[in-house]
Amino acid sequence: MAAISKRAQAIQPFHVMKLLARAKALEAKGKHIIHLEVGEPDFNTPQPVLDAGIAAIKDVRMHYTPPMGLVALREAIAQFYRDRFQVTISSERIIVTPGASGALLLALAAIIEPGQSVLMADPGYPCNRNFVSLLEGRNQLIKVDATTQFQLNKALVEQHWDNNTTALLLASPSNPTGTNISEKSLADIIQFAEQKQMAVLVDEIYQGLVYDSAATTALSLSNDIFIINSFSKYFSMTGWRIGWLVVPEAFISVADNLAQNIFLAAPTAAQYAALAAFKPDTIKILEQRRNEFKLRRDYLLEALPKLGFKIPVKPDGAFYIYANCENLTDNSFEFAEQCLEQVGVAITPGIDFGNNSAEKYIRFAYTTSLNNLKEAVTRLERFIAT
Ligand SMILES: Cc1ncc(COP(=O)(O)O)c(C=O)c1O
Repeated sequence: MAAISKRAQAIQPFHVMKLLARAKALEAKGKHIIHLEVGEPDFNTPQPVLDAGIAAIKDVRMHYTPPMGLVALREAIAQFYRDRFQVTISSERIIVTPGASGALLLALAAIIEPGQSVLMADPGYPCNRNFVSLLEGRNQLIKVDATTQFQLNKALVEQHWDNNTTALLLASPSNPTGTNISEKSLADIIQFAEQKQMAVLVDEIYQGLVYDSAATTALSLSNDIFIINSFSKYFSMTGWRIGWLVVPEAFISVADNLAQNIFLAAPTAAQYAALAAFKPDTIKILEQRRNEFKLRRDYLLEALPKLGFKIPVKPDGAFYIYANCENLTDNSFEFAEQCLEQVGVAITPGIDFGNNSAEKYIRFAYTTSLNNLKEAVTRLERFIAT
């Protein structure tokens, strides 16, 4: 029997999967569970997108597309940057990928040499670390807290940079904290990175989901950065597995080579469906949903502190609240387990997002109806009182 590679063994499973499996088992026994652990919209794919996908299947448009994606979709994405952000980029720089996951893998594979390190915030999206170690790079996790909106800033990057650092990875809005990086801070980081010839990757997967200001893109600050994006979140298309990567000019050809070899092309029907994602009818639906997410966030921002959680920074995007629970427990994992067992509310403990005071944090995903959120808060109140 072949041995499992050390590289593969180093990949950590999500702790929340254990909780999710338990939640499913409890549901199978008839217990009602409220899911606040799920990182995907509860809304279905918008009808115009579904219709476009169904039409593609009916017309049997099922062959491979070019590795970088349908030209029409790459152009539609470029048009989206022009219309929404007044940013002009060539569609040549856009690669359609199997989700932001494909985009992350492609971008990191294009820049990491074994042993080189990538700077990223802790807490942060767990797969980032795993992608870096899969490519035999080194993760340099930088602890962030409320004083920097749980984001990296130039001072932190400068402090942790060394000759071995090849890239830095940002996410705005962030998972798990829902916070944005300010334009000034981002501009300062990009300037520093340029001086040090370090690649900057900005994950904008939650881009359309902002509640207190207009959506932005780091592409308005520089053309020499990598942008990761996806149809999964704002566009409610998680299962279609489709996203995109924007690369600097110099990386177009290598991204094409890598895309051909790693996944050949993103799913064809999903690409045709995504062509309808930027249509005014679709955007109208998505904006209504954004308003609904904002109502949910505002409700939790008021309700959770009354239960004893502290929310150190107001999250202005994504669909997450990263709440400090140290007044209620010194072990957020156990807290999450017991909360599920006793009152049927599933939440994600901080441990899934890094090592930085993880035991003091819980991520609440407001990817369920306001009514469910209200019921969850009532149940949490009962749980905390016992
Ligand atoms: C920050 C971040 N990046 C990337 C992804 C991957 O998303 P997908 O591959 O569905 O586009 C996720 C999913 O939760 C995420 O939260």
